[in-house]
Amino acid sequence: DGAEPGGLRTPIVAVLGHVDHGKTTLLDTIRGSAVSEGEAGAITQHIGATAVPLDTVSEMAGDLVDPTDFDLPGLLFIDTPGHHSFTTLRSRGGALADIAVVVVDVNDGFQPQTIEALEILQRTGTPFVVAANKIDTTPGWNPNDGLPIQTTYEKQSDSATSRLDENLYEIIGDLSDEGFSADLYWRVQNFTKNVGVVPLSAITSEGIPDLLAVLMGLSQRYMKEQMAVDVTGPGAGTVLEVKDERGFGATVDVVLYDGSIRADDEIVVGGLDGPIITEVRALLQPRPNAEIRVEKRFDKVDEVRAAAGIKVAAPELDDAMAGAPIRVVRDQNREAVIDEVEAE
Ligand code: GTP
Ligand code: MG
Repeated sequence: DGAEPGGLRTPIVAVLGHVDHGKTTLLDTIRGSAVSEGEAGAITQHIGATAVPLDTVSEMAGDLVDPTDFDLPGLLFIDTPGHHSFTTLRSRGGALADIAVVVVDVNDGFQPQTIEALEILQRTGTPFVVAANKIDTTPGWNPNDGLPIQTTYEKQSDSATSRLDENLYEIIGDLSDEGFSADLYWRVQNFTKNVGVVPLSAITSEGIPDLLAVLMGLSQRYMKEQMAVDVTGPGAGTVLEVKDERGFGATVDVVLYDGSIRADDEIVVGGLDGPIITEVRALLQPRPNAEIRVEKRFDKVDEVRAAAGIKVAAPELDDAMAGAPIRVVRDQNREAVIDEVEAE
């Protein structure tokens, strides 16, 4: 469920980075799934969305996230493909994001789509942190599943930590070459001015508590005004995919980034031949921690509030387009909403 009026909107966290650097695996570990293993050629080819509730975040983060410190309902993670041919999808993911995680394989370092991701985030002015992933592949690394980074760090040999440090400083140097002042996250005071680097492993979960703590802190502290919006007004979102569902015909998977959408709403959706004006037939919500892209069981709900991933069933959606806007018409002028959808 989204926030109550006066509460905070769920922040949208986009995960970007070079192919195979571990974006989907990182999300699999956070939400307790195995989406990456089911992917053809182990390559992500679509944008995904997963609502991770606050209690899951605090469970994963242990002592680093005390849920009573936060009024955020959780985080909505957006997975994006890293393969070079999906630039449009990365830009779309970046445009949706309130904050972002750029995943970099700590051994592989900066690669073309790492730089592309940074350019997208710079263009959209999105604050981000860098997840220096796969620290468990450092020669001599002694894994300590699920521990905060500094605790596992203290348990490593000098040769392992100096190898890791070398790779981390290379990433910090590469960020600096791209014009970002960066440092290891525990040395960063203001995450909107400096980029924090969080060393972690998507496989052993070491450092994931730290990443979640940074994301929660960043959302709550620096983005409060952006999150404190009315999530009961007429909804706005972006279509991720158009899919046929048995019993419903063409449906759209949507990231709702503003307001709400209700089961009896009139909606306008961008289509191949111009705006489609239709009425919601059913709102199908993925379960918490489920990736909408692969989810098979949906709950029929009366309303969802931003931010959320939601499958919308409605007549006439066959010509809806991935990437197109979707808008709820409630008390505003319908023509104005149609014009907005047409212009976007
Ligand atoms: P695209 O979506 O295609 O861009 O790839 P991705 O960034 O989502 O990478 P994915 O999560 O599919 O992981 C690629 C490979 O790296 C898989 O074989 C993972 O098991 C492996 N991998 C990811 N994270 C880690 C890690 O922290 N440690 C180790 N050892 N392997 C990892
Ligand atoms: Mg992936």
